[in-house]
Amino acid sequence: MDTSPAGPDYDPTVEDPAPAAARHRAGAPEPAPLTEHGPARVIAVANQKGGVGKTTSTINLGAALAEYGRRVLLVDFDPQGALSVGLGVQPHQLDATIYNLLMERGVEAEDVILETSVPGMDLLPSNIDLSAAEVQLVTEVGREQALGRALKRVLGNYDVVLIDCQPSLGLLTINALACADHVLIPLACEFFSLRGVALLMDTIDKVKDRLNPDLELIGVLATMFDSRTVHTREVHQRVVEAFGDLVFDAVINRTIRFPETTVAGEPITTWAPNSSGAAAYRMLAREVIAR
Ligand SMILES: Nc1ncnc2c1ncn2[C@@H]1O[C@H](COP(=O)(O)OP(=O)(O)OP(=O)(O)O)[C@@H](O)[C@H]1O
Ligand SMILES: [Mg+2]
Repeated sequence: MDTSPAGPDYDPTVEDPAPAAARHRAGAPEPAPLTEHGPARVIAVANQKGGVGKTTSTINLGAALAEYGRRVLLVDFDPQGALSVGLGVQPHQLDATIYNLLMERGVEAEDVILETSVPGMDLLPSNIDLSAAEVQLVTEVGREQALGRALKRVLGNYDVVLIDCQPSLGLLTINALACADHVLIPLACEFFSLRGVALLMDTIDKVKDRLNPDLELIGVLATMFDSRTVHTREVHQRVVEAFGDLVFDAVINRTIRFPETTVAGEPITTWAPNSSGAAAYRMLAREVIAR
């Protein structure tokens, strides 16, 4: 199996053939423009497995939603700060991050939120300070609702809030699930992609049961799809068998374009607007709006 970030024969000027599973589907319709904004739907992008495309999907789904006129807030909820980096922000140079918003009285979301290069898309950045919050929150009353409290005041300003979770099922991810309306699970089309998903679903069920009865799985996104390998199609088939209609028709191909966008510090929708990757995230955005 090809485990490199992208195939050697990738040509960005050529649209990839749609993966077999998506080829015959029409996808969701072009969304109607909005005449007014908010309150936001909150979507946690979560999978405790690392490197499955959570951050990449948060950035590019967000940018595609913004292209459709949605006001979007991206929340970097990983102390690694990869979402912030992917949008050209140097996390260690920030005066205020989501850590300050969570842990300090008197700090409001407006004080921390940054505009991004994408019109209509803002960022709540994070850096390594957030790892201290996870420790400090443990002893707090209402520790699972800290993020929800912090975001409450700004929900009216946005149509969609996307929370990029860290690769764990610890307190930060629980906070994201506790304040979300939906959870979106990216799954890489690789060996063992389904391993650990039962634990994730179990955690979602527990949060739904104990903290947030409105939480729903909005869908499963197949990522790192490599149309040249049989294996990737088999994994995709297994994901469809496991999740049925919850699997988004949009499938994200494995291409070097995504690592490139991280270096560029911008989404694929602006870095390579005509690429298959940009088209796939636009298709995902239409499905998310329709669900
Ligand atoms: N469709 C893709 N094709 C090729 N490379 C990709 C794709 N999506 C993401 N990548 C690359 O794979 C790596 C992991 O992606 P990403 O950071 O989005 O995953 P993650 O789930 O957020 O990881 P972590 O669990 O560490 O937070 C990054 O280098 C990213 O650029
Ligand atoms: Mg990430």
